[in-house]
This record gives sequence, C-alpha cells and structure tokens, in this order.
Amino acid sequence: MSTVIQPDADGLRRAVEILRADSVVAFPTETVYGLGAHAFSEKAVAEIYRLKNRPTWNPLIVHVADVAAARELTDEWPDRADELAARFWPGPLTLVVRRAAHLPGIGASDDTVAVRVPAHPVALDLLRASGLPLAAPSANRSEGISPTTAGHVVRSLPDVPLVLDGGTCSWGIESTVLDVTGDVPRLLRPGALGLRILRDASGTIALPESETADGVARPSPGMSRRHYAPRARAILCKDVRDVDRSGLAEPIATLVYEGSDGTEVLSADPREYAADLYAALHRLDDAGVATILVQEPPQTEDWLAVRDRLSRAAA
Ligand code: TXA
Ligand code: MG
Repeated sequence: MSTVIQPDADGLRRAVEILRADSVVAFPTETVYGLGAHAFSEKAVAEIYRLKNRPTWNPLIVHVADVAAARELTDEWPDRADELAARFWPGPLTLVVRRAAHLPGIGASDDTVAVRVPAHPVALDLLRASGLPLAAPSANRSEGISPTTAGHVVRSLPDVPLVLDGGTCSWGIESTVLDVTGDVPRLLRPGALGLRILRDASGTIALPESETADGVARPSPGMSRRHYAPRARAILCKDVRDVDRSGLAEPIATLVYEGSDGTEVLSADPREYAADLYAALHRLDDAGVATILVQEPPQTEDWLAVRDRLSRAAA
C-alpha cells in the first residue's frame, strides 16, 4: 500500500532517498500526477513500466529543473526549442529533440527524447533536491484515466511506495507534445497548452493527421486509440437525451457541459472543462456507473485536447 505524504522538507528527503535508490515516487505536476524515476537508470525505468503495465514501445517524458538541464539531454538544441522554452517553461509543453549520443533510450524511443520543465513547486523542488532528470509518465495504469489528485494515484497504482500530495493539479490534462527535430514543429499530442498560443509563438504547426516533408507524419507512439479510458463504457453523442438506452448496460450516467442537464455538468469553457474532466470520470467509475453518455464538445480548435481525450476514452 502506498504512503501519501506532505511535500515538506521531510517528505522531499524521503522521496529523494527512494529516487536515488532507483525506485519510483509519484509527484504532482501542474498537468497531472507523474510516476517519477531516475530517467537514465535502467532499473528505475523498468519499475515504471512494470507498475503501470505500460508497453515498452511507449517512451517516457523526461522532467528537468531548467533549460540548462534540458540541453544536456541533446547535442542539438534547436533555436526553436530555445524560443519555446523561454516562453513556456516551466509549463505544460513537452519538446521532442534529438537524444544525446551518450544517453540510453527510454523505452523503445528512436533517437529522440521528450523533455519538459514542469510548473509545479513540488515537482521543481523534487527535481532540484534529487539533482536527477526524472522520467515521469502519468501515474496511472496504462490506458486508464490520468490522476489529478493523490487519491487517484493510490487507487490506480496501490503498489507505488510513496506519493507526494500536492493537492489538485491545476491544468488537469497532460502537456502538449511538440516535435521540434524538423523544420516545421509537429504536434504529437494535443494538450494543456493550446494550439493558438503555440502558433503565435512559433508560426506553422504540423498537425498529427497531416503529411509532412519527409513523408508520413510520425505520431506520438503513445497515441494508441484506446487510452484515458474509464472502466465504464463511454459513448460520445451530439445530444445525450436522444440516445436509445435500450441495450446499454446500467447504471447509465451522463457527462455534459453547462447548458444541459446531466449527472456531471462541466464548464462550457475548454480550459475549465479539461481541468475537471478526469476527476469527473474517476467519480463516475467510483460510483459504479456502467455506461457514460458524453455530450460531444464543440468542433473548434480550443477543444482539440478535450476532444482527443474523449474520443480515446470512448474508443
Ligand atoms: O503532462 C504530462 O505530460 C504528464 C506529466 C506527468 O508530466 N506526463 C505524461 O506522460 O503525460 P505520458 O507518459 O503519459 O505521455 C507521454 C507522451 C506519450 O504520448 C509518449 O508517446 C510521448 O509523450 N513521447 C515520449 N517520448 C517521446 C519521444 N521520444 N518521441 C515522441 N513521443 C514521445
Ligand atoms: Mg499517460
């Protein structure tokens, strides 16, 4: 059973001890809770994959304390990475760059590494106190719903030895993953940082579906279709009232946004909706719901990350 502790001086000291012993610690970030371990310890990284039951072909994001530490992971730090990091780090943007020749791959990654500086004081304290680059996927079983509270972590991964409790994550949805190894930055995973603000900073962004100069777009290896899924069956629908419920497993719940009636009513603002989405799915699972009818969000770019997660939850 996991121990959940406050991230005070004593809590951090215990966490650092565990990380230095090549084991894992769950910690809060501004997006979701991460399951952290020394990124370049084979033993520590293997423990992450084992606990999450994560397929090894899916590589992990490395979290570092600052840009200088990010640059140490690569021999080729593009100007664009520098500009984006200056503007958005610490924050919910993950950059994929070429991995330095002396570093081992993390999972079955190609010659790249994904890196970000998280904007949560506890994550930054842990990175600084340990002095380690920390590989950290979301702290949930593979394919499950990402955790936005310490309680979610414990329920999904009861065998994690230590969880630092930093309260509720403010963004509540994972970071945006952007590949900056080519001429045009490529979106690998829509996330907390919106496309509009990224384009303002960086110009054109190639989207996952689009063809690129070097042929077919290479999607993020983690973007398997079913992901972020509740135990209940989730069904996307234009209007939850129109759905024929005969033949659907009961109990049935509805997840809608403001303006409609439902079991869970989330904000009509995409950022606020995203912040509450995983907690709402966790609540419905905990209540033993068998079917969730989910009102489709608007087809606009501001809803891209939410629509991505909902379509995977429903896959
Ligand atoms: O907000 C987040 O990003 C959270 C917090 C804990 O930082 N982490 C997270 O990690 O969501 P994870 O492992 O659940 O998702 C990492 C994503 C996956 O889609 C993975 O395939 C992709 O990043 N990724 C990691 N390394 C990559 C690489 N070298 N090239 C392409 N995609 C990569
Ligand atoms: Mg995840």
